Amino acid sequence: MDRVTVPMIQQKKEKGEKISVLTAYDFPFAKLVDEAGIDMILVGDSLGTVIQGKESTLPVTMDQMIYHTRMVTRAAKQALVVGDMPFMSYQTGMDATIENAGRFLKEAGAAAVKLEGGAGVVDRIAALTRYDIPVMAHIGLTPQSIHRMGGYKIQGRSPSQAKQLVADAKALESAGAFSLVLEGIPISVAQEITATVKIPTIGIGAGPDCDGQVLVLHDLLGLMTRFQPKFVRRYADLSTIASEAFRHFKSDVESGKFPSQEEGYQ
Ligand code: KIV
Repeated sequence: MDRVTVPMIQQKKEKGEKISVLTAYDFPFAKLVDEAGIDMILVGDSLGTVIQGKESTLPVTMDQMIYHTRMVTRAAKQALVVGDMPFMSYQTGMDATIENAGRFLKEAGAAAVKLEGGAGVVDRIAALTRYDIPVMAHIGLTPQSIHRMGGYKIQGRSPSQAKQLVADAKALESAGAFSLVLEGIPISVAQEITATVKIPTIGIGAGPDCDGQVLVLHDLLGLMTRFQPKFVRRYADLSTIASEAFRHFKSDVESGKFPSQEEGYQ
């Protein structure tokens, strides 16, 4: 299979083909995701919660994102890799935005970046697009806005909020975003946005009408046991499998069953 490119992602919408996206943060999982034929791998700043065990994504740094994105691009032979711009890597100014976004392509081998926000980040997206850095936009429940939202709450429920989201989506498309993540918004709002813009929408907790779907890898694999949002479908229960393996190993070590003669050198 050929490497997935930005134009290929855009053509998928035109052809009515759904787009699959998963997050990954390291070499072994990125390799499995890539080999499964997933279209895009997002190195999400969700690594703050699922890898680092923090309460939010806010503490994640640019250097950490570059470190993880490198591992993922080393493994991904087909999927388009998108690096997620962490909190305060694009909010502080245009020069910082361009420099930090450029690092994902130059130092980490990503093909695109993602950043959160609506009308407020249109100038950032226009500049990055002008310098040939493809941008995936992200609106709705934007985790970096946790304090403004007062928690991880569904957005766009009131008619005025819904109208604002549609307006944001149009502005982000005009600024040059090549795709748009819709997170935590009502199905009807996601449907309207998807029908309004020409760029593909990638939903997470936004219903079935989006042009594609993204899930956090650790949610899908059942590795995040502390909280499971309603929109997560758990395709495997790796927590149970891993913990059974660890207990089995402990008991084999304690009983002398591991290692056997065959597992040693003569
Ligand atoms: O950081 C992340 O993993 C994300 C996805 C949930 C879209 O932003």
